[in-house]
Amino acid sequence: MRGELRYEGKAKRVYATSEPGQYIVEYKDDATAFNGVKKAQISGKGAINNAITAQLYPKLEAAGIPTHFLRQLSPNEQLVRAVTIIPVEVIIRNVAAGSFSKRLGIEEGVSLKRPVVEYCYKSDALGDPLINTDTAISLGWASEEDLQRIRQLALKVRDFLTPFFAQRGIKLIDFKLEFGKLSDASIVLADEISPDTCRFWDARSGEKLDKDRFRRDLGGVEDAYAEMLRRVLRED
Ligand code: TMP
Ligand code: ASP
Repeated sequence: MRGELRYEGKAKRVYATSEPGQYIVEYKDDATAFNGVKKAQISGKGAINNAITAQLYPKLEAAGIPTHFLRQLSPNEQLVRAVTIIPVEVIIRNVAAGSFSKRLGIEEGVSLKRPVVEYCYKSDALGDPLINTDTAISLGWASEEDLQRIRQLALKVRDFLTPFFAQRGIKLIDFKLEFGKLSDASIVLADEISPDTCRFWDARSGEKLDKDRFRRDLGGVEDAYAEMLRRVLRED
């Protein structure tokens, strides 16, 4: 049973439970882009992102990546281990797109010789600005050891997800991860992995099957999210 609301973000709410070490995460249909400037509801998004995350996190655990995920509770809710979120968002890029392409003048779709790991400060007020690891260490957001571990885990997530999606006809262009600390200070993967937080391109047609359909007014947003759930549920 849900206890007190502990945190409300743009796409999820986090509630306490009767167990101090466990939270309930509720996935909402709300979508925002450009730091909350553009707002809408994407019908069914909460349930789809919850279902996709609930499929992927146990597979990541099995691949040796510790996560906060415990189990799915209902279409829009999941039980997770209580963590303190490290305010450093980690973006992994396989292919140039989005802000990377804009910042560097690189055409979207250009493959990168090796994956790029970027860090942003998790702050809605500032629009999640790009930072480097020195900034995170000097401001006390994470230690050098924490950041080494986060980088290692993020690349391990990439090494699992890239072939997982390739087998399902999806090119994983880039994605964003968040990490949290358990009460024993160990670091686990937190948050979600979904079309809100990844760029997914159909391997054959190049069609975008992620939140860029909403950000860029491409239409077919709900269909793209539903298609991504179908691909994730496809057996190996
Ligand atoms: P970007 O190219 O806009 O920096 O986005 C990189 C990846 O991070 C992309 O897969 C979308 C994801 N992302 C989020 O999950 N949250 C955000 O607030 C932003 C800006 C991007
Ligand atoms: N999540 C961010 C926002 O709300 C941006 C994005 O996903 O594009 O504005």
